[in-house]
Amino acid sequence: MSRFAYVNGRYVRHADAVVHIEDRGFQLGDGVYEVWAVFGGKLADAEGHFARLERSLSELRIIEPMSRTALKAVIAEVVRRNHVREGLVYLQVTRGTARRDHVFPAPDTAPTLVLTAKSIDRSAAEAKAAKGIKVVTTPENRWGRCDIKTVGLLPNALAKQKAREAGAVEAWFVDELGFVTEGASSNAWIVDADGRLRTRDTNANILRGITRSSLFQVIAREGMTLDERPFTPAEAVAAREAFITGAGTLVLPVIAVDGKPVGDGKPGPVAARLRRLYIEQAVASAI
Ligand SMILES: Cc1ncc(COP(=O)(O)O)c(C=O)c1O
Repeated sequence: MSRFAYVNGRYVRHADAVVHIEDRGFQLGDGVYEVWAVFGGKLADAEGHFARLERSLSELRIIEPMSRTALKAVIAEVVRRNHVREGLVYLQVTRGTARRDHVFPAPDTAPTLVLTAKSIDRSAAEAKAAKGIKVVTTPENRWGRCDIKTVGLLPNALAKQKAREAGAVEAWFVDELGFVTEGASSNAWIVDADGRLRTRDTNANILRGITRSSLFQVIAREGMTLDERPFTPAEAVAAREAFITGAGTLVLPVIAVDGKPVGDGKPGPVAARLRRLYIEQAVASAI
């Protein structure tokens, strides 16, 4: 089945979708992106992701390519054309195409907008969640504005590769004080020895995960205790459970950190329950 992408006003076959070689995303990493999970053909946590996209653009002074309403219509069309019921939508906006120069191009330079959508096998994802994943740690080496979701993902790509080569799936960045900041493409959590949930506060240099904040609602509803504080890799190993959150992974149990088992080395009941409740909430509120 053909896949389609949206590139600057046109729906094109995925295989033919291109941007100019002087696009500032390609030349300078001068762009932002956003990812939505799709459940039943609808966007999960939609408004949170739109709000973060608008904030990322505004922090970098990149023009919004179109209104939120227009963007929703384009996304719906990309989802429809790709026949995605369960999957992901990827959106990227760059500062546009201009002769290579570090300084911003002329103010009337149109931003580049690219959208793709792909299907996910939810039963394979559930099987993965039932097994859990391993993570490795790596020194934090990213810039000071990780709250902006930029396409400048080189440290994240290197960290993920390190994880892959160690037989793990995710890498957790560790700051100079020895605390986990977040994953290369996810937020990091533990269930501590007292059964309290812990994830790093967003005053730190991390991405304000939308799945993370949606899960806060689930946690509040369930009357569970949440501690917005950082933890060390050793605390994760000593914890009852660990897990990650993200639009791609939802809530995914972590069973080992740097080769050391977390808890009994198996996915725990809290992460499994939170995954189920998060998905229920995401499905019920998808638009
Ligand atoms: C570095 C990083 N942290 C956290 C997340 C989780 O964010 P969200 O839940 O909004 O997908 C991501 C998602 O891609 C990420 O790249």
